[in-house]
Amino acid sequence: MSTAAIALKSTEDRQDLIVQTPTAGLSLQGCLRVPGDKSISHRALMLGALAQGETQIQGLLLGEDPRSTADCFRALGAEISALNTELVTVRGIGLGNLQEPVDVLNAGNSGTTMRLMLGVLASQPGRFFTVTGDSSLRSRPMSRVVKPLQQMGAQIWGRQDAAFAPLAIRGEQLRSIHYHSPIASAQVKSCILLAGLMAEGETTVTEPALSRDHSERMLKAFGAELKIDPETNSVTISGGAKLQGQPVIVPGDISSAAFWLVAGAVVTGAELTIENVGVNPTRTGILEALEMMGADITLENQRLVAGEPVADLRVRHGSLQACQIGGDIIPRLIDEIPILAVAAVFAKGTTVIRDAAELRVKESDRLAVMATQLNKMGAKVTELPDGLEITGGTPLVGAEVDSCTDHRIAMSLAIAALNATGTTTINGAEAAAISYPDFVTTLQKVAIG
Ligand code: S3P
Repeated sequence: MSTAAIALKSTEDRQDLIVQTPTAGLSLQGCLRVPGDKSISHRALMLGALAQGETQIQGLLLGEDPRSTADCFRALGAEISALNTELVTVRGIGLGNLQEPVDVLNAGNSGTTMRLMLGVLASQPGRFFTVTGDSSLRSRPMSRVVKPLQQMGAQIWGRQDAAFAPLAIRGEQLRSIHYHSPIASAQVKSCILLAGLMAEGETTVTEPALSRDHSERMLKAFGAELKIDPETNSVTISGGAKLQGQPVIVPGDISSAAFWLVAGAVVTGAELTIENVGVNPTRTGILEALEMMGADITLENQRLVAGEPVADLRVRHGSLQACQIGGDIIPRLIDEIPILAVAAVFAKGTTVIRDAAELRVKESDRLAVMATQLNKMGAKVTELPDGLEITGGTPLVGAEVDSCTDHRIAMSLAIAALNATGTTTINGAEAAAISYPDFVTTLQKVAIG
């Protein structure tokens, strides 16, 4: 093989990504943009739908997850224009005015859609809703939001004491609570804050470590009354406020940029610039982890765009060292652990990732799946109950691997394949479209050799 070949092969029910590296290896060069932040895209659509007046969104992610959110809120009565990256217009219905849909609300593969929407639905007195999702989402735990909502007076039914979707919800007038969440989860926090918007009095969520704060920033911008106590990781929202539609500019998703940061760091001779990436401090754990490993990454052109910090990120290839990751940084890089595991495979020494048991209940069991799939390529990855132990430095060999229908696994394995000899086939690569529909096209553009 003298030139790199990166191609998608479509079979009846899935797409496989084939990465063939040339004998001399390949490299990566160029300047690129990643799609809009998934978390911010969901919130812009939801708050736009709940607000009065018009919300204009620039840079929305066109992945399948935000499409699920848009479809659900259209069924609830919001007018949302056709989704595109330039400009999406949302004509809101106003808090408390949601329509009772005539069909089941389907959140697809999206945990954020389902969990945040449950807070909204539970607080609509007198209306009845049913929600479901794909097979992955139907096996993900919903008790983490159902339990606190029930403490607020919500009526929710479903399998195993409403632990799993499909769920049926009868909206109620909720009462405020102070909820001490056992997990640092922005989905849990945001669900309760959204429910608190319609509850009487002040609702507080305290979390054990700070999770992403996009809801807090956007709720404030839309006119909600919010108090934040950084000392105790607590947020308090006052019930009864009215939300007013706002312009939202969605920055590039650091979780998508992470694939290029690791690719740029581990592929010989690589140099990539990723423009317009959101660098909200509650999301930049991946930059800190890669810095600990010795990666050559610089932040350029730092600015504030519509209340969110943004920068251009430049990465150059260099040698990486193993690192130890755990504790409060975990919620700030929770979605980047699969690609961080790939970085560790190419680092010198043994990397240990702990306190990350949450990965077992993501779109797949990401600890088990990453260990199994990377080991098929010759890596040395051991699963821990709450993390991974990765001994780097063993050369990877192309193999047939599987995304297990998880978008971040598909893309992480594609990056690992860039440094494997021979041919790697990633089965189920179409999963990438959940958060990054143009991933393969971009990879084809920046890969040289
Ligand atoms: C998200 C929060 C995180 C993250 C998910 C998106 C959000 O989940 O993994 O991809 O937009 O609030 P948890 O809150 O469950 O950690």
